[in-house]
Amino acid sequence: MKIGILTSGGDCPGLNSVIRGAVLKGVISHEAEFVGFRWGWKGVVEADIMPITRHDVRGLAKQGGTILGSSRTNPFEGEGGGPENIQRMLDEHGIDAIIAIGGEGTLTAARRLHDEGGINVVGVPKTIDNDLAATDYSFGFDTAVEIATEAIDRLRTTADSHGRCMVLEVMGRHVGWIALHSGMAGGAHAILIPEQPQSIEQICEWVESVRDRGRAPLVVVAEGFTLPGMNEAHSHKGLDAFNRPRLGGISEQLAPMIEERTGIESRATVLGHIQRGGAPSAYDRVLATRLGMAAVDAVYDQAWGSMVTLRGTDIRTVSIADAVGTLNRVPQSRYDEARILFG
Ligand code: F6P
Repeated sequence: MKIGILTSGGDCPGLNSVIRGAVLKGVISHEAEFVGFRWGWKGVVEADIMPITRHDVRGLAKQGGTILGSSRTNPFEGEGGGPENIQRMLDEHGIDAIIAIGGEGTLTAARRLHDEGGINVVGVPKTIDNDLAATDYSFGFDTAVEIATEAIDRLRTTADSHGRCMVLEVMGRHVGWIALHSGMAGGAHAILIPEQPQSIEQICEWVESVRDRGRAPLVVVAEGFTLPGMNEAHSHKGLDAFNRPRLGGISEQLAPMIEERTGIESRATVLGHIQRGGAPSAYDRVLATRLGMAAVDAVYDQAWGSMVTLRGTDIRTVSIADAVGTLNRVPQSRYDEARILFG
């Protein structure tokens, strides 16, 4: 069997671990052959293909980024796009199946290629935001939380030195998992996430109560958080070409608002893509490796249109249809738990 792998969408620590897990499992257990599509679906549409041997994946589990490159190309667009063209290209290169590693957009495209064109595809969920349904955690999330937590620890000492309020903006376009976990781990005094609207008055109340206890307030905000009544028209950064809040928007608005209302000198820090760079944590390496191995099993089971997923501590296979279209939001109970710690 010849299997093509692609990594698509925003990159994520652990992508290379998935590739290594899949290749080792496929070569050792099934004598499979592997190729990679360069730059996500772009490599499929343009038949930009590279061989991946066992030798190529040596030592790859710890390497950040993706050896295949990634992009946000839609496989239904462009000259070689659409299920018919893609099937023709796969036949020409003798490729029997695709393992598509990506988030909501990638998996939706994979599902459509399978449903509408009968393409043999298996998905692997990827998102540092942890916003995909049908998987308890996605690889990359643990690494991102670790990096954000270290940032909180570092901000705390400089905040204490100056008696300032620090507002740290972390990734999370639609959901606040990174903010919730790093905020809890780092002992933030307020955690602001898209799922839980809070007024500026409430935020300032939390900040002032921290100051009144003689501490320097630390606020963690997910990039997708908005104040009630605020929309992109109020934001000086607005939305980007993908209809996402621009990085740097919300913390840079909140810090001066807090300073103005409380009189506490405030600073904003945008962590940005540092959360996606560098080596994956050991947890993410293990999870990603297991998912890569399971994706190969799904290929040999001919579980087309399915996605491998983490449920509890087990790796399972679900239909991609069950995984896309619904966000994995932070439940109220998890927020309430963290909320008690704001004091
Ligand atoms: O993939 C999720 C994410 O990390 C978001 O949290 C963030 O808004 C976005 O990617 C940034 O994407 P890009 O690298 O395209 O700017």
